[in-house]
Amino acid sequence: MSAKKRIRVAFGLAAVGALTIGLAACSSGDSGAGGDGGGSEEITTVGFVAVGPEGAWREANESNIQDTFSEEAGYELKYAPATNLDQKSQIDAFTSFVDEGVDVILLSATEASGWEDSLKRAQEAEIPVILLDRGIEPDDDSLYVTRIAPDNVEVAKEVGTWAAATFPDGGNYVVLEGPAGVGVVNERNTGFDEGLGDSSLTKLDAQTANWSAEEGKSVFETMLKSSNNDIQLVFAQNDEMGLGAAQAAEEAGLVVGEDVKIATIDGTKNAMQALADGQLSYVHEYNPLFGETALEVVEKALAGEDVDSYIVVPSEAFDSAEAAQAVLADRKY
Ligand code: AHR
Repeated sequence: MSAKKRIRVAFGLAAVGALTIGLAACSSGDSGAGGDGGGSEEITTVGFVAVGPEGAWREANESNIQDTFSEEAGYELKYAPATNLDQKSQIDAFTSFVDEGVDVILLSATEASGWEDSLKRAQEAEIPVILLDRGIEPDDDSLYVTRIAPDNVEVAKEVGTWAAATFPDGGNYVVLEGPAGVGVVNERNTGFDEGLGDSSLTKLDAQTANWSAEEGKSVFETMLKSSNNDIQLVFAQNDEMGLGAAQAAEEAGLVVGEDVKIATIDGTKNAMQALADGQLSYVHEYNPLFGETALEVVEKALAGEDVDSYIVVPSEAFDSAEAAQAVLADRKY
């Protein structure tokens, strides 16, 4: 039986105990890093159903995953970015990976719903699936090993808490959302509302700007015009949309930090520079650099070990120019 089969058997019989894990350990090598421990270099194949080009956060995240699952580490990572963010292209890639019999699938879903059939097929083929960043709806965690991501609800809750404290006497705010159907959008709205609590801030509007700076600018321009510039806060669900809103504010003759404050999520370098320069008011990191964590989880899953169903990636908040300046020099993304 090839090393891969033993890993699958180990995964399928995880409940059997020591013998199984012993088999897996033997076939997965000392470090479990894809080698078979038997002297030959058994490579672990990883199918990465990815989002593809979407912005700075995605670039940092997917590069980190590809760099981590390297040949030197004992992996062959097959990268399958979506075609124009289209879910069908992701489902087709997922299906191909199952048919090909990869050892494990990593999935960053462009849409939260519509994954049940694919996940069930992988389960029948005893191929473990690990969700990266994006969750699925309905969230049936029997269909995947774990989800690895910062906690969107908690991250957005901290943004809401900051907003409520920053505007004790209330004011008008708008939300620039990611695309409809993406799981993190709902999680971020839920968290932000929780953080606002009984704040007297008033929500004037919420629209998608599809994670884009260009759309963030045009959508916020329209919001400013329709409110006669009477907006004191923008919650942008990612950096690019917040940077676009900052451009719109400037072109409307508003001063960010005085006339309007802009809070974003991601913590990419451009946003941190904008925070340091006063063009943004608050940036909460949504740390994309979790490749090492994903590799550890893959090793555990292939060795038939238990893994928590949600692994939260720590992320921090930056609420001032000084805070941003302090980290800019060695920012990794
Ligand atoms: O799912 C994470 C989100 O997707 C990031 O906040 C955004 O920048 C990316 O496009």
